[in-house]
Amino acid sequence: KKNSNYDRYYSLMEEVQKYFGEILFSKQGILGLEYLKNRGLDEDFLKRYHLGYAIDGWNNIGDYLKEKGYTEQEIFDMGLIKKGEKGYYDTFRGRVIFPIFSPKGKTIGFGGRILNSEKSTAKYLNSPETKIFTKGDNLYGFINKGSNIRKNGFVMLMEGYMDVLAAHKNGFANAVASLGTSLTEKQASLMKKYTQNIVICYDMDNAGRKAVERASIILKRYKFNIRVLELSEGKDPDEYLMKNGKEKFKKELRNSIEIFDFLYNYYIEGINLNDIILKKNFIYRFKDFFNSIEDEIEHSIYIEKLSIA
Ligand code: GTP
Ligand code: MN
Ligand code: MN
Ligand code: MN
Ligand code: MN
Repeated sequence: KKNSNYDRYYSLMEEVQKYFGEILFSKQGILGLEYLKNRGLDEDFLKRYHLGYAIDGWNNIGDYLKEKGYTEQEIFDMGLIKKGEKGYYDTFRGRVIFPIFSPKGKTIGFGGRILNSEKSTAKYLNSPETKIFTKGDNLYGFINKGSNIRKNGFVMLMEGYMDVLAAHKNGFANAVASLGTSLTEKQASLMKKYTQNIVICYDMDNAGRKAVERASIILKRYKFNIRVLELSEGKDPDEYLMKNGKEKFKKELRNSIEIFDFLYNYYIEGINLNDIILKKNFIYRFKDFFNSIEDEIEHSIYIEKLSIA
């Protein structure tokens, strides 16, 4: 009984994914298509990655799925409609849609971006957690069952949907993103099945640097070799690729720095190591990182690096 319910959920999600895709290339999706083209994605690419558009209205998605034979409850269970005072209304309205696929390739959720950043609503909206979608168990851009990651010998971890798409478009199909949440153990273990090498490509702003620190602790528990991409221009990989192209990006990738050096540079900003208290606090900032390293040799290499500070 439970299984047949789940089959209906999966087919509902596939149905609505196709619907979003059709809308994007119809008259009603013209704003969305224009938006995505302006961000450097052509029609062929948009189709390959199954991007879509949600009409700026209240009942399009719900009505469409009901017509297809799904119940209000099922549509609600999948987070596609919400309950209001005057009945149900569509969750995604006036947004370009990024389908999220499970590692096995099933549509399990959606991300949606507004077209116009002046609007007062959140820039991105994700499907809520549902019976078939747990954000922390999945990665955006994890396609072809991880074969691109295995083939390249490393995975690139990025922040956002657009970063991953820009990377894939430029031939870096081993890029994934953690779906707007901070990296989870499940996501680390998923990536670990395909490689032990990771390059973190988060935005080089304050939030991004802080997120590198947090992710590195989880990734070290899974024994990853970690490097960090520090883009010199452009806030994130998408902006960088748009501005500088893939050859320069490759060069940046070759210059990515080892995680310890990243943390060292990050922690030492504005710190005078001649002051013993500041030096002690500086060293203590590595505590969680060191605690996450099991390998004794690796541990002692890092300790040595720190002791010559
Ligand atoms: P663009 O402006 O489209 O290039 O977005 P971005 O990916 O560069 O945005 P940002 O660096 O601010 O955020 C990175 C990721 O965090 C996004 O791709 C989303 O997954 C998530 N995110 C950003 N803003 C929001 C938001 O307002 N709500 C939610 N739920 N997630 C967000
Ligand atoms: Mn496909
Ligand atoms: Mn960011
Ligand atoms: Mn960004
Ligand atoms: Mn961006």
